[in-house]
Amino acid sequence: IRRNRKQVIDHVRVASYAFAFDIDGVIVKGPETIPEAKEALRLLNGENKYNIKVPYIFVTNGGGRSEKARSLELSTRLETEVTQDQVIQGHTPMKDLVDVHKNVLVVGGVGDACKKVALEYGFKRVFTPLDIMKWNPSVSPYHNLTEEELSVAQDYDFSKIKIDAILVFADSRNWAADQQIILELLMSRNGVMGTSSPNFDEGPGIYFAHSDFVWATNYGLNRYGMGALQVSIAAIFREHTGKELGVIRFGKPQRGTFTYANKVLTQHRQEILDQHVSQVSLNDLGNLTEGEVARHPHKPVFSDSDSDSEDELPLDFQRLAKITLDIPPASTVYFVGDTPESDIRFANSHDASWHSILVNTGVYEAGTVPKYAPKHTCENVLEAVKYAIEREH
Ligand code: G3P
Ligand code: MG
Repeated sequence: IRRNRKQVIDHVRVASYAFAFDIDGVIVKGPETIPEAKEALRLLNGENKYNIKVPYIFVTNGGGRSEKARSLELSTRLETEVTQDQVIQGHTPMKDLVDVHKNVLVVGGVGDACKKVALEYGFKRVFTPLDIMKWNPSVSPYHNLTEEELSVAQDYDFSKIKIDAILVFADSRNWAADQQIILELLMSRNGVMGTSSPNFDEGPGIYFAHSDFVWATNYGLNRYGMGALQVSIAAIFREHTGKELGVIRFGKPQRGTFTYANKVLTQHRQEILDQHVSQVSLNDLGNLTEGEVARHPHKPVFSDSDSDSEDELPLDFQRLAKITLDIPPASTVYFVGDTPESDIRFANSHDASWHSILVNTGVYEAGTVPKYAPKHTCENVLEAVKYAIEREH
């Protein structure tokens, strides 16, 4: 290990509390970035009067691209490095289905972007509605594939393929065609296109990355989201079959996503602490045993460096610097969201140490009574961060 003393941030400590942010309506609105978001993150990155670094992650119901692509976009917009390990999207926990279903139809997003994400997750055979429309354009009578769509659609014979599961990854760009295909498969014989099951009970399972009925963009009023598509599909299925459609949901406010988010947050806090411990000066470490370092994970000491030279650190230090700290859970996780039904419900439902904060920059309309009451309400994300930091100190 070589340590560049210039990289040591003097006196910065790592907070025992942490943050999780919703994205749409809190950090961004469509192509626009919420102006206060940059400063909010600067505060958490250590530029605050307490010289404390506060770990944070993002938990969005959105998706349609990889976690890496999303983190790069956030880094550019927010002018700070966001890593892919800090980002959970609606479809991220669907990774866990990789060994459960072989042939999957991935719905939503632009072109074949979601198909690529699913393949990266490890799904073996991934198909899209565009592939199905290429196989037989009459599937969706009023939509002719564009040149762009044709360039990403692939050739398969869907009369011979059994779709095992329908995964709605992101918002549909073509409700009419996607609904025709989804409903046909739900009522099919074993997930084969062009067939129908007499009792409507042989179709594939359907999974939704989230259930947001509306979401906030840069348009004046909220827009219908994946939850609205779900309502529509369930209503048509009921009308046609007389049966209720069973669906499996991911995203906020589901417990599975909460468990996943906690795991990701713990890993991220661990990484931050590991980085900081590896920057502790030799003198500081001289008095600490391995056990003592492990017992003081929250307040690693930073060196007052008086030299700009790089030191080759002795083996002893290397061993100590690599200790994996077994950290306790965050004392409080502040969750900042704009949608009471998904964000506030998510933060309020699963663990008392999560503290919900509702902002006025997205779906929630200031002055109305939210369906799920937050612990605190703020104008925007910057106010939320300031409120939490003051509450902690
Ligand atoms: O499609 C995205 C939207 O429904 C919500 O995203 O970041 O507010 O959870 P977010
Ligand atoms: Mg939101």
